[in-house]
Amino acid sequence: MKKQLENIRISAEHELSKVKSQKDIENIRIKYLGKKGELTNILKQMGKLSNEERPIIGQFANEIRDFIAKSIDTNIKKIKELELDIRLSSEKIDVTLPSKRRHLGHRHPLTIVLDEVKEIFIGMGFNIVNGPEVENDYYNFEALNMPKHHPARDTQDTFYINENTLLRTQTSCVQIRTMEKSNPPIRIISPGRVYRSDAVDATHSPLFHQIEGLVVDKGITFSDLKGTLETFIQALYGKDSVVRFRPHHFPYTEPSAEVDVQCFSCHGKGCRLCKNEGWIEILGCGMVHPTVLKNCDIDPEVYSGFAFGVGLERIAMRRYNIDDMRLFYENDVRFLNQF
Ligand code: DAH
Repeated sequence: MKKQLENIRISAEHELSKVKSQKDIENIRIKYLGKKGELTNILKQMGKLSNEERPIIGQFANEIRDFIAKSIDTNIKKIKELELDIRLSSEKIDVTLPSKRRHLGHRHPLTIVLDEVKEIFIGMGFNIVNGPEVENDYYNFEALNMPKHHPARDTQDTFYINENTLLRTQTSCVQIRTMEKSNPPIRIISPGRVYRSDAVDATHSPLFHQIEGLVVDKGITFSDLKGTLETFIQALYGKDSVVRFRPHHFPYTEPSAEVDVQCFSCHGKGCRLCKNEGWIEILGCGMVHPTVLKNCDIDPEVYSGFAFGVGLERIAMRRYNIDDMRLFYENDVRFLNQF
């Protein structure tokens, strides 16, 4: 029986030397030390031994069991370390590998140009203000010196919500809201959406964007208007861009003008881009009409001001040589990816 026990120790030791996983060790534990294991089987036969042999063999069997149990413990430790090593090396991150390409979005060309415009005017000391897109007739027309039945109302096909409420056709309403709320000196621009009931084509859309500008203070003259707008256009289109002020009429400014930039494609000679005119119109402007100042409780004998309205799509189209306005609203990624 002693020989049998010795054999069990040797074969357990041999098997333990070859284990590769915790599972292997568990199998060995069951095989030798388990309830139906080899060692247990032998111990069951102890009853057949003589009284002298029994304690000796019993002690020996205990020693063998302790030995195997200890070997199992040390092997479990070793295997755990080994498994950890394998895991660490297999999960290692190679920080020098190129990363997965992520698809980054793009800023919309209108946003890019608007950000530039804001930057330019902030640099000249202007504040940025916002106004509502759903407006009253009063702010969109009446206060801007366009009473009911004024012919200038017909030039802007208006979406009416009811008799008195409409979608603003221009950002000029923000001039009134600003002058009502604050005292001169006032220096603001107000970008935003405007709406007109126009059919969609290459140069028209029922929704487009304007940037309104307003300056009111003592002693503001038309030269301030010219200087401000020339500075703006040269900052936007480059120092050598040529600007022209052309007389025009708006009910809320007097005198009024439209500003053209010399076509940068043909430099004034005339081409397809400028429809052979050599000039491209980009904004309307003028000195704020005394009636408009009065409507906002500002004394036109003390204060004067200028205002302007820029079409954002228009300057973005010129900026990027885009010849169809619809491209701005279709959100075709092939178009947007170019910016
Ligand atoms: N509101 C005009 C338009 O929608 C643009 C404009 C012209 C705004 C002259 C102004 C201005 O403030 O003074 O076409």
